Amino acid sequence: QEKLQFTSFLHYLDWKIYQMLSGSQQRKKLIMMEIPSVFGPRDRSITLYEGINHHPDPDSIFRSKTVAQLGCGNGWISIALTEKWCPSKVYGLDINPRAIKIAWINLYLNALDDDGLPIYDREGKTLLDRVEFHESDLLFYCRDNKIELDSIVGCIPQILKPSPEAMSKIITENLSKEFGNIFRTSGPLRGFVEDQFGLGLIARAVEEGMAVIKPTGTMIFNVGGRPGQGVCECLFLRRGFRITKLRQTKIMQAANTDISALVEFEKNSPHRFEFFMGSVGDQPISARTALAYMKSGGHVSHALSVYSCQLRQPNQVNKLIEILKNGFHELSRSLDLSFADDSSAHEKITFLVYLASFLNANKPNPCQPPAE
Ligand SMILES: C[S@@+](CC[C@H](N)C(=O)[O-])C[C@H]1O[C@@H](n2cnc3c(N)ncnc32)[C@H](O)[C@@H]1O
Repeated sequence: QEKLQFTSFLHYLDWKIYQMLSGSQQRKKLIMMEIPSVFGPRDRSITLYEGINHHPDPDSIFRSKTVAQLGCGNGWISIALTEKWCPSKVYGLDINPRAIKIAWINLYLNALDDDGLPIYDREGKTLLDRVEFHESDLLFYCRDNKIELDSIVGCIPQILKPSPEAMSKIITENLSKEFGNIFRTSGPLRGFVEDQFGLGLIARAVEEGMAVIKPTGTMIFNVGGRPGQGVCECLFLRRGFRITKLRQTKIMQAANTDISALVEFEKNSPHRFEFFMGSVGDQPISARTALAYMKSGGHVSHALSVYSCQLRQPNQVNKLIEILKNGFHELSRSLDLSFADDSSAHEKITFLVYLASFLNANKPNPCQPPAE
């Protein structure tokens, strides 16, 4: 049956040769098959791959490590990073079953030579030893198979579509002037706010990642900056991560993109989305200004940033999150482990873990005097 399905879309077949592997030991090109319903290299994923290449020490996160790539599409990043850094295993994961079929085909196309014989690397292994592709909703496959990861690389969608209902709910939450504070002041709405700004899937991936990654592991995600840099970074910071921006590029906004919902949102809140004039502007402009500029024939872009994230105090933060997940769901949505003053972070996180373990054991809050 799979064969039939495959031949039914063979007529879409398009072979591409990507020259993305500068520095690779093996070869400079990847041969890839593309079909329309499966993502291959685009602005977003190319920026991610460039970001990975800008990591100060990529060997430390990939060489001989176990890696998952979320939203692997046709598999090119999983294959490219394996060629370059020889991880012991890369799990390329995608929710789209067609993507997984194409990714396997692409793996074989690059693992075998013209005579169909395996190509061995310096360690005597082939791409087939090092890479697997699986259909999976985010990290489900790794969780289900109890795979412990060293690194996670994510290129997953963001859909920025604030709904009027959600907007009014957020607005009644008495926002403070700085939008970053939405996350700090609106308590139980936080997860909800991340959804509104298209960051829900990335937020879920980060939380699932925390459950399957080694305490000192690294996650790398690319994030479109339209919600505003503060909002995007808060997603990682409030969950206890230290972040490093590996790379930032600008993505041109298609001229026919409707951003009127964002303009409406701005009318009723102090928040400002972040666009840029043309592809080089460095001063952010609001959705309202961007719309006016587009109407007068101008082109706008938005930032796309690649972040590398590592948990600070991983054992403690993981313990805290685990406790909050079991029965304190609302609290876990309100958690904010971003600290302006790095030096106080250690003391505060340690205290929070202590407090949470009291709550978990159904003991009275140790900070309140006992009831009369
Ligand atoms: C922007 S594309 C990136 C594709 C790929 N990284 C590349 O280099 O071309 C996003 C990918 O995320 C996948 N995706 C969307 N939701 C997902 C989910 N919940 N779990 C896993 N993959 C998902 C899509 O099927 C798509 O292939």
